[in-house]
Amino acid sequence: MRVAVIGTNYLGAAHAAGMAEFGHEVIGVDVDPTRVATLNAGRSTIFEEGLEPLLERHTSSGRLRFTTDYTEIADWAEVHFVCVGTPQSDTGAADLSQVRAAVETLGPLLTRPTVIAGKSTVPVGTAPQLQARFDELAPGAGVEVVWNPEFLRESHAVADTLRPDRIVIGTRSPDALATMRAVYAMPISENVPFVACDLATAELIKVAANAFLATKISFINAMAQMCQAAGGDVTLLADAIGYDKRIGREFLNAGLGFGGGCLPKDIAALSARANELGVTVLSELIGAVQDINADQRREIADLAIEALGGDATGRRVGVLGAAFKPGTDDTRNSPALTVATMLADAGASVRVFDPQASVVEVPGVEAAATVEECFDNSDVMLHLTEWPLFRQLDPAAFVTRVANPLLIDGRLKLDADLWRAAGWTVVQPGRAVRDERP
Ligand code: UGA
Repeated sequence: MRVAVIGTNYLGAAHAAGMAEFGHEVIGVDVDPTRVATLNAGRSTIFEEGLEPLLERHTSSGRLRFTTDYTEIADWAEVHFVCVGTPQSDTGAADLSQVRAAVETLGPLLTRPTVIAGKSTVPVGTAPQLQARFDELAPGAGVEVVWNPEFLRESHAVADTLRPDRIVIGTRSPDALATMRAVYAMPISENVPFVACDLATAELIKVAANAFLATKISFINAMAQMCQAAGGDVTLLADAIGYDKRIGREFLNAGLGFGGGCLPKDIAALSARANELGVTVLSELIGAVQDINADQRREIADLAIEALGGDATGRRVGVLGAAFKPGTDDTRNSPALTVATMLADAGASVRVFDPQASVVEVPGVEAAATVEECFDNSDVMLHLTEWPLFRQLDPAAFVTRVANPLLIDGRLKLDADLWRAAGWTVVQPGRAVRDERP
């Protein structure tokens, strides 16, 4: 089939490459000519494992190419996927300007039947509005808007695209549903669950999934606060409740909480939409999830300031990690950078090391060129993004480089016993067992 992908950043680049891998002819469209040129050269514009080989393979085979010109895709594609960003606006609601711009550009160019498959995360009720606009812009062409939410995780984008947990299609048209089944014939043949539903349910499934994941993380972080207050170990607690299949161990890692370009903005947008629709009970629940998440960042920054005797002015802080999670160079709404910035604002001299993410644009924060440089002469070290590399460090090799061997493990992922044996004082909030273990 001929498939167009509009928007080729985090989501669209992986989706376009995945569609080519499924055997389709694919054109990706983006307003950014530099990104288009990079992708056409078979190179990725982001750090995402496995993406570049897939781009290389399919740009070389000729099955995948990128352009800035909508006229190349308009009547060419049988399906147009909308993968543009829907960032958070000042009010918390989703900013749909990129979606609307795509519709306004594409709509007038369409003259024959096509399916527009929305993948961007939007407030419930958006799809029928877009359908109405296409009907105005391309009257009689036979444009059908369906909703096909995306569930891929950054750092697992390729695997999640090729082998998703489920495929959701919201539509009122049997023909459009048949087209979407053909697009996804390969994963469907591998028994990936396929959910066909109405437009509103499809839009809501996406935000419900992200809100549930955020709630799970904030729940375990609230339990971490209980463990800290009462004496207890949140990691063992998470392991133990996670054995219950109804709960599951995934997304029960306590620590700094969630960040990134999706969970925080999607739950804010869901909350705003719930308020618009009068479902205040949902916005209250989300409010509690957001409060707990914000607390976790403040708590770690306060712990560091306390460790510095209550005054961070001029003190040297080393931060391990800048990305919002390991496996990506994405620093959007990064918990690690929020904490680093809080400490810089408190007067500390903050150096950050991350194996992939850049901190050049973070005010008050300095980039360490190497992990060693990050440790050198520091008064306190903070472990804020759990890259595997940090778990492989030899604590004995670093104890003499620092001014004070004090480590705050904000992700609860380092082997505290190993670090303590090497002479470090280790603080892991939520792991405050007071009694001896058996
Ligand atoms: C999230 C969802 O997991 C995807 O399913 C969804 O498609 C995507 O948003 C999206 O809407 O596009 P992503 O933003 O890549 O994916 O990140 P996650 O893996 O969900 O992690 C989010 C944050 O939660 C990270 O900061 C991570 O460190 C944190 N986290 C995750 C925890 O603090 N504890 C956990 O147990 C798990």
